[in-house]
Amino acid sequence: MKDTSSNSSAKKNAGYKAAEYVEDGMVLGLGTGSTTHFFIEKVGMRIKEEGIKVMGIPTSFQSLLIAKEWNIPITTLEEHDIDLSVDGADEVDSEFNLIKGGGAAHTKEKIVDYAADQFIVIVDESKVVESLGAFPVPVEVLPDASRMVMKALEDMGATCEIRMAQRKDGPVITDNGNFVIDAKFDEIESPAHLEIDLNSIPGVVENGIFSQMVDKVIIGTDDGTKEL
Ligand code: 5RP
Repeated sequence: MKDTSSNSSAKKNAGYKAAEYVEDGMVLGLGTGSTTHFFIEKVGMRIKEEGIKVMGIPTSFQSLLIAKEWNIPITTLEEHDIDLSVDGADEVDSEFNLIKGGGAAHTKEKIVDYAADQFIVIVDESKVVESLGAFPVPVEVLPDASRMVMKALEDMGATCEIRMAQRKDGPVITDNGNFVIDAKFDEIESPAHLEIDLNSIPGVVENGIFSQMVDKVIIGTDDGTKEL
């Protein structure tokens, strides 16, 4: 679905910068993806070097495993509220609307990022766009509903495909046991409306449009960061 090896110094700069916003005692939402990997790593380094005490709520098995590797204590939304969530994105527009889900983790990401008091998005410059839509919108669906959801999405004007796994035969199965349909719209005029419309199709679990949730965007470049 995406090349996570590119722009790694820009991703690292963004992830490490976001870790500067972490304060002693915080509960953190831990996003998913190659950029967030650097954020979690730097939080782990701060725990080791500065002795700060934080807890993390992962948004995927990927972020859980990275957090464990860095000895970040794990908690859940059942037990704690979230002070700060940091997550990557596949597209960020000029009004801070996002497309997420390139790693098929957008359902848990949306739950965690939405629950946070503060939500920081970390991206490299290639993710910044004037308006959303070059990247298809990932739509997580219950497997039994996938054909019907695809029909409904096509009626809304999207070109769709079920996301296929790369080192497994058949479709990608999300951490929640579902399929992902990648829905490409020619134009997304209103991300907020499309986000609601997609979730009103029976069988849709969650879609990858995150409208009006973001507090800050940190853009990594090869030699530093910019903040919006
Ligand atoms: C996973 C996501 C990721 O945050 C998004 O795909 C960005 O990933 P990366 O930082 O690897 O480019 O939404 O579902």
